[in-house]
Amino acid sequence: MGTANIVEVKNLNSAYGQSKVIFDVSLQIKPKERLSIVGRNGAGKTTLLKSIASLLNPTSGSVVYDGIELVGKPSYDVARMGLKYIDQDKHVFLDLTVRENLELSSYATGDYDWDKVFKHFPKLKILIDRKGAFLSGGERQMLMIGRAILGDPKVLLIDEPTEGLAPSIVDDLVTTFHELSKDCAIMTVGQNLSFVSRIAERIYAMKEGKLVAEITDEAKIKDNSYSCYL
Ligand SMILES: Nc1ncnc2c1ncn2[C@@H]1O[C@H](COP(=O)(O)OP(=O)(O)OP(=O)(O)O)[C@@H](O)[C@H]1O
Ligand SMILES: [Mg+2]
Repeated sequence: MGTANIVEVKNLNSAYGQSKVIFDVSLQIKPKERLSIVGRNGAGKTTLLKSIASLLNPTSGSVVYDGIELVGKPSYDVARMGLKYIDQDKHVFLDLTVRENLELSSYATGDYDWDKVFKHFPKLKILIDRKGAFLSGGERQMLMIGRAILGDPKVLLIDEPTEGLAPSIVDDLVTTFHELSKDCAIMTVGQNLSFVSRIAERIYAMKEGKLVAEITDEAKIKDNSYSCYL
């Protein structure tokens, strides 16, 4: 049935010290799909993404990416293998220019093809000599995603992509995510349901560290009716 999943998460549990946050989460990401996890503040969305990307060590469970077990691997290896996490706080190097930020990612991945970055984000070409500190929230988001697509990732995990962005920038991101998903799977997490309804082909609802529903029906995705699970 269909193509093999690019990511297979099974019975994942994560905690901060004694405090358990993720409970027995199992999910799949299909190649080149646009998937979203929705959940309120503190539901565990960021913790789940970081656990998948090996930025946090799960207490138990398995994350298989492209046939390879990721649990226990260092996060830089995971990123180099093509599974990238883009954080919620839009961290770019503030003292470095757009060019220098891109150079670091090119150095890390060995991929110097910036044309594909500028194809998705032409504005970055104009801002190439501007320091990270002087970019707007939307421009930082562009730079973070631009850096992440170097190295031709197969999966982008994007934490709260629209947080703090103006509506017109959010509109641009909708288009960009549709374009990017021609080459790689995109899983976003967040609370912006109108955005999710415009991009997602499939949704998981997350509550108190557990996935409580999976929504695949297009009409239900479009009309936000999944908000009843939050
Ligand atoms: N570094 C940490 N140490 C201890 N507890 C943490 C840490 N980070 C998060 N938590 C706790 O884990 C739970 C889940 O947090 P998480 O950040 O994963 O939620 P979230 O769904 O991403 O929330 P938000 O929508 O606010 O980004 C919360 O109760 C939070 O207080
Ligand atoms: Mg979060």
